[in-house]
Amino acid sequence: MKSARVLIADDQADVVEALRLLLKGEGFEIETAHSPAGILAALESHDFDVVLMDLNYTRDTTSGQEGLDLLARIQALEATVPVVVMTAWGSVELAVEAMRRGARDFVQKPWDNARLTATVRTQSELSRALKRSQRLEAENRLLRSGDRPALIAEAPAMQPVLQLIARVGPSDANVLITGEPGTGKEVVARSLYAVSGRASRPMVTVNAGGLAEGIFESELFGHVKGAFTDAKMDRVGRFELADGGTLFLDEIANVPLNLQAKLLRVLETGEMERVGSSKTKRVDARVISATNANLAEEVANGRFRQDLLFRLNTIEIHLPPLRERREDIPLLAAHFLRAHAQRYRKHLEGFDPSAMQALLDNPWQGNVRELNHVVERAILMASEALIRLADLALRPIAAGTGRLEDMSLEEVEAFLIKKALARYNGNVSHAAAALGLSRSALYRRLERFGL
Ligand SMILES: Nc1ncnc2c1ncn2[C@@H]1O[C@H](COP(=O)(O)OP(=O)(O)OP(=O)(O)O)[C@@H](O)[C@H]1O
Ligand SMILES: [Mg+2]
Repeated sequence: MKSARVLIADDQADVVEALRLLLKGEGFEIETAHSPAGILAALESHDFDVVLMDLNYTRDTTSGQEGLDLLARIQALEATVPVVVMTAWGSVELAVEAMRRGARDFVQKPWDNARLTATVRTQSELSRALKRSQRLEAENRLLRSGDRPALIAEAPAMQPVLQLIARVGPSDANVLITGEPGTGKEVVARSLYAVSGRASRPMVTVNAGGLAEGIFESELFGHVKGAFTDAKMDRVGRFELADGGTLFLDEIANVPLNLQAKLLRVLETGEMERVGSSKTKRVDARVISATNANLAEEVANGRFRQDLLFRLNTIEIHLPPLRERREDIPLLAAHFLRAHAQRYRKHLEGFDPSAMQALLDNPWQGNVRELNHVVERAILMASEALIRLADLALRPIAAGTGRLEDMSLEEVEAFLIKKALARYNGNVSHAAAALGLSRSALYRRLERFGL
């Protein structure tokens, strides 16, 4: 192991020399400085494990003010390097003031060799341990960002989403993510977490949709042995697991009303009890929640507490449905193609033009998730390097019962135009007449819809 580096600073050359010999003999690597400017220059050019410095530099002052100012500048430059200050015998007040301003320890002159050496050694070991843990933390963060989910969002409709993630991700603010099923709410939750200051702590997920009402409370808050028949031993709840980290409450609209009150309490006060216990515990969790329900409507219908909604939606991120960000379809499709082709070990290069056109035109009621599934299925079906329209096995846009209600106005228009063209064998004049449009108006729409 490399020996620890110590910077020794004093304006008296004989003091510096004596300390240098002492600490060098103890195995430290030494550098010296004789003025405040010299100390700052040394810190700028090298990393040190410890700085051992005198507080007085101008011979005629003994106030130590110069040294105290210097301490502040060192910390601005190198916040983590431990500083041990030297003060004249009897000036304990000055030493205390220096400690208050961030010095880690002090020695009084004339010093005791053994004690000074022990002090420097302790500080250098602490400093190395700190550096090691900071490096590990940074490495972990990097490793984790490796499994950070890809968030494809180049369409204009997604720009507000990206901006919000960048702005509120690093804060501790509670965020509510809304959007239709399959729009990527979980991906956004993971992205928020990945850019947060809590990324080195776990993100604990609770899916309120998948839990039976009876076990929900103990899942969230834990329980103690004997709290109910099946409670054979103590159990830590998700809130406690997320202490210091992030809690992702998915499908929040499904939390039963009686538990909403308990949820509100822990969000307001940070206090909770395990089921069956009266011992109050404090937890500090950043809460990200998601729902595809309209919570304002749920509040109006008495199914969701308004005060809880206000706690959860400090910031709300709404994900637009895929049909409002069709620009992203080619990118998403290519992303899923790459991912699944690798998984199924098939060589596929892309989509032929008619297949891509169909992907662009599809209504995508199931949003990004449906696109993902369609691409996965097509990969299994494909027999050539390009995926063809037939491989996609998309349901034709048919006027099945009630389907029109689910379409946007544009989709309905495109659907009716396609039908009219099919009925008149592609004759634009006849189709236009049947639709009550002029020929040029129909051509404009054909262009717009890419038909
Ligand atoms: N913008 C995106 N970029 C890349 N992949 C995405 C994106 N949005 C969604 N996905 C993928 O689509 C699928 C569905 O996304 P996700 O599970 O986040 O949706 P959701 O909104 O939570 O859906 P639900 O409401 O059904 O829970 C996942 O496989 C996810 O990785
Ligand atoms: Mg989800």
